[in-house]
Amino acid sequence: MLSDVTDIMADPQTGQPLALSADNTTLSSADGRGYVIAPEGFVVAKGPGAPLGDTGAMVHARETFLSGGQFGPFVEAVTEAVHDALDDAADPYLPHPVIVDLGAGTGYYLAHTLDDIAGAYGIGVDVSEPAATLLAASHPRVAAICADVTATLPVADHSVDVVTVVFAPHNPEECARILKKDGQLVVLTAVAGHLSQLRAPLGITDPDDDVLDKLNTLLGDRFSAVGPAEIVDYQMQLDQQAIATQISMSPSARHIDAATLAQRAATLPDRMNVTARAAISRFTPNS
Ligand SMILES: C[S@@+](CC[C@H](N)C(=O)[O-])C[C@H]1O[C@@H](n2cnc3c(N)ncnc32)[C@H](O)[C@@H]1O
Repeated sequence: MLSDVTDIMADPQTGQPLALSADNTTLSSADGRGYVIAPEGFVVAKGPGAPLGDTGAMVHARETFLSGGQFGPFVEAVTEAVHDALDDAADPYLPHPVIVDLGAGTGYYLAHTLDDIAGAYGIGVDVSEPAATLLAASHPRVAAICADVTATLPVADHSVDVVTVVFAPHNPEECARILKKDGQLVVLTAVAGHLSQLRAPLGITDPDDDVLDKLNTLLGDRFSAVGPAEIVDYQMQLDQQAIATQISMSPSARHIDAATLAQRAATLPDRMNVTARAAISRFTPNS
């Protein structure tokens, strides 16, 4: 919850510390700048030009699909990578390590990790209000922030043990700023072959072959890889309903209208094997 992590929150405009009001409705700095806490429990910290993020329909589809457990191996891989990152820290026995998940969506990955790491606190950031609503309710040790991850985050310099980015936008500069010097960035990214059996029939695009090279280039001179990326690759048995839900939660939902997608999905077998394929990587900030 927010009070667990208020001591590492900072005004994105000024860097000043933020304090929680006694009635839990505002986070404000000594100079009077404040951020409202929505009745749904998330801090509203997005600027006027922020994108909307996922729609309510996409968030609902994600919640439905993830609750089926089809991405179980992905969530396990993220949690294991966070454990490994914490084990590598100067003090691997911190009572309350802080994990920040950027583009956290419904909180599925962060909540699973917090369940597995006793005492850890989580800060989930997502610009979508429907996502932030579910995020706020995802775990008792999650603080939810509705903010644009490509802008300055309301988190103090070098205060965070692990940042995770799971199928979400990046901000290497901010990750380097908020991570402790011995902290780590954990990234799960879809690679070529992910959902391959659905690409041609549904007309959706495959991740580029060089997606991992692009990630390394993006992180540039701010981060160094901790060993090679590991590929998580398995088969899911999906029925038509699960396929429709999977596509409705993906970026394809923005590019192909729902009726066309439904028409194409109806031509698929009732049940089919679909490849799930992503790379998990860890990075340390360069000093
Ligand atoms: C593909 S979803 C992944 C969600 C979650 N990490 C998961 O895998 O279940 C991408 C998420 O990033 C959010 N998002 C997109 N652009 C964003 C931005 N600029 N700032 C914050 N969140 C953003 C979307 O609202 C969405 O929840």
